Amino acid sequence: MRRIAFWSPKGGVGKTTLALNFAAAAYYAGNKVILCDLDPQRSAFDVFAGRRLPFTVLADKPQVMPNVDYLICDYAPSLDRLPEEETIILPMRASMLDLRAVNRAIRLIRNKRIIKCVNAVDTRRHDERMIAMKLYNEGAHLIKDRSIYVRSIFDGETVFQQNKYGSSDAQNEIRRLLDRVEHPRTLTAKAS
Ligand SMILES: Nc1ncnc2c1ncn2[C@@H]1O[C@H](COP(=O)(O)OP(=O)(O)OP(=O)(O)O)[C@@H](O)[C@H]1O
Ligand SMILES: [Mg+2]
Repeated sequence: MRRIAFWSPKGGVGKTTLALNFAAAAYYAGNKVILCDLDPQRSAFDVFAGRRLPFTVLADKPQVMPNVDYLICDYAPSLDRLPEEETIILPMRASMLDLRAVNRAIRLIRNKRIIKCVNAVDTRRHDERMIAMKLYNEGAHLIKDRSIYVRSIFDGETVFQQNKYGSSDAQNEIRRLLDRVEHPRTLTAKAS
């Protein structure tokens, strides 16, 4: 079983959005998937439980380890509860403030694989593009700013259940993130 944390000390960077879509990518690739919502805000659990998601969403970690391929945890934006999972996907925005906060937070984590995921990148903005490219060259994954991510949540779905403008590009970039997890090719991200 692979245990994946979506964790970041910063709020509103896309932890829940990416955790949900990553869970869907893993499910449609043929895996058994459970998503655990560890945020007291209960965003993933409240909005999606009982809706059209093809995988189970729990309001906490299960007491007994389930027999699944992926246990995916959506963390609160906090340094109080550090992730226990062996792979951490760390969403961030392409900004210097995020970069500094993320690099400080990474120093608290030991012996885990960390994949920085620069989310909602607006490639039309020069400064954002420059930071995103720097991080990409250091091994980060990039996810573009796409209204389909907002729209699908509004519909109680993931981008994998949508057939609207931008959905196939969004599906592809989430699938590439899944591929990064399944086939490690870069070193664990380091604080710099
Ligand atoms: N790639 C993207 N493109 C466009 N909008 C996005 C993208 N990713 C996330 N968003 C939007 O950004 C907002 C914040 O996303 P989300 O709630 O997933 O962040 P979060 O890190 O889980 O927040 P919190 O720290 O409050 O738990 C939401 O409105 C979401 O729809
Ligand atoms: Mg969240």
